[in-house]
Amino acid sequence: MKFSVTALLSLAIVVSNTNALFTPRDEESVCKGAKAVSTSLIPVGSKMVEMTTFSCDMPESFRVLDAAPSNATAGPDDVCGELCINVCTNSGTLPPTTDDCAVIMDAVTIFNGSHAPDFTVSNGHAQVLSFGTCRMFFENFSPNPLAYCWLSLGQVASAAGSACLPPVQPVNSEGFCIANTGLWRVGIAHA
Ligand SMILES: *[C@@H]1O[C@H](CO)[C@@H](O)[C@H](O)[C@H]1NC(C)=O
Ligand SMILES: *[C@@H]1O[C@H](CO)[C@@H](O)[C@H](O)[C@H]1NC(C)=O
Repeated sequence: MKFSVTALLSLAIVVSNTNALFTPRDEESVCKGAKAVSTSLIPVGSKMVEMTTFSCDMPESFRVLDAAPSNATAGPDDVCGELCINVCTNSGTLPPTTDDCAVIMDAVTIFNGSHAPDFTVSNGHAQVLSFGTCRMFFENFSPNPLAYCWLSLGQVASAAGSACLPPVQPVNSEGFCIANTGLWRVGIAHA
């Protein structure tokens, strides 16, 4: 992530006392074996959007690749703007409310206009923005770090929501857009 270290540190201090209030109640719903590794709060007007990085359990084959020598000179693969396929699921929870998702979209618009419109997600990690009932996320299931951009996260997650959530699909509670390689996905779900 390209946020300035100072800004992240000061945000992290704010967060340490309030973490439990914001972190999704069911971390397993983010990804298998999800563990929050860092959290910060993004002010949107008087509201606070939570930005959390989770580590996820990875298939054994990916861990082997992870242990191989990395190509330190190569940057992360940038998959921003790459095509993906919408998949709708019902995880048994209620769908997020459009008002809460709109606050996350406001945060995404702020990021897009900032000096850090892109972000990098390590292999086996998920980057999650959440507010109230809504969560938008990018998950990296590939063996390598991936770069993505906030604007696409918002747009792709919203499009998956439009295709998958009420009123179009009254029984679904989650929408994903999955890369045809299967190595990453962007989605929207109940926080
Ligand atoms: C390392 O990355 C560079 C730039 O992407 C690439 O040209 C090169 O082939 C890579 N080397 C290995 C060993 O993967
Ligand atoms: C995102 O940023 C680009 C470059 O500054 C700008 O042209 C575009 O209008 C912005 N889009 C949104 C939705 O904020």
